[in-house]
Amino acid sequence: MSLTGVKIVGVGHHAPAHVVSNEDLERWLDTSDEWITTRTGMKRRHWAADAEATSDLAAVAATNALAYAKLAAADIDCFIVCTVTPDYYFPATACIVAAHLGAKDKPAFDISIACSGFIYGLTVASGLVRSGVYRRIMLIGAETLSKILNKEDRSTAILFGDGAGAVILERAERNSFLGAELGADASRPELLYVEASGSRRPIDGAALEEKRNLIAMQGREVFKVAVNKMIEATDVALQKAQLTKADVTYLIPHQANKRIIDAAAHYLGVPEEKVVTNIAEYGNTSAASIPIALSEFVRAGRLKSGDVIVFVAFGGGLSWGAVAWEWQQAA
Ligand code: ACO
Repeated sequence: MSLTGVKIVGVGHHAPAHVVSNEDLERWLDTSDEWITTRTGMKRRHWAADAEATSDLAAVAATNALAYAKLAAADIDCFIVCTVTPDYYFPATACIVAAHLGAKDKPAFDISIACSGFIYGLTVASGLVRSGVYRRIMLIGAETLSKILNKEDRSTAILFGDGAGAVILERAERNSFLGAELGADASRPELLYVEASGSRRPIDGAALEEKRNLIAMQGREVFKVAVNKMIEATDVALQKAQLTKADVTYLIPHQANKRIIDAAAHYLGVPEEKVVTNIAEYGNTSAASIPIALSEFVRAGRLKSGDVIVFVAFGGGLSWGAVAWEWQQAA
């Protein structure tokens, strides 16, 4: 199979209008702006309205990416949404987004791997483009985690936000996808999961009573694994790309916790000014966090051709991954 190249030609993002500040959380939780800021780096997060679903956020982000790339929905050959907060069990959220955009009869599917979603999605979509299956793919990370958040649990309620980020991948002569490393280990799913949500434990009255239909996390345990796996994945992705840490122009990590990002960046020897963070504004938006950060960064004119970016994430599964990517500026 002869591979050709892939590049990103469009970026877009969107977050719900409703902003929840740390001070807002103080009103009903035993917490403080000081605790949240020092332990996480978060100041605000956006939470969707009752009537606002994941596909609604995704469709706006995708529309913005199309406008950026000066393309129409009909120019896209396949739609992929990375999410753990789909509109429904089925149909896939990607099908709903494609329909919303007016893309008729196009393939569309979801990827469910929590906060690592965009990294897995970028790897899968790049493979589909490079192997010639599709010319252009709309890849979206979109979440409404506020819908599965126990808003009375201070250890998780403060962390998560809603949003969507989209990229359009297009076949290219030069190849931006330099290397990737993905991994997963579900030996302890209870470290970070929604216990009552599927066939293992369907949602029933008791589950609702005990709030087992909402996110539960053992934060301290997750924290330790997160730092190690993000470092390992970055190292291996760079090796596969035949690059070293010194070649990295920017690190765009999943925005889970500023302390996790700082620890990983410190180990990797990437100085603060090369680490892209927007966690103060959005909190942890799971699969949406990296494409939102990328879209903001690109739209601010911060990337130039030849810059090497490492995208790296860690999340539920447990799962992790990193992609080394060379930026190509749109002509
Ligand atoms: N306000 C005030 N105090 C709090 C709060 C809060 N919001 N939350 C917890 N505390 C208390 C705890 O009760 C505990 O009190 P105690 O010492 O009296 O028992 C104390 O603060 C310390 O708690 P820890 O859990 O040890 O705090 P830690 O420094 O580990 O920070 C956090 C917690 C922010 C959750 C951190 O562990 C973390 O970020 N973990 C990783 C999260 C993550 O990356 N998840 C993966 C991605 S998510 C996905 O895939 C969907």
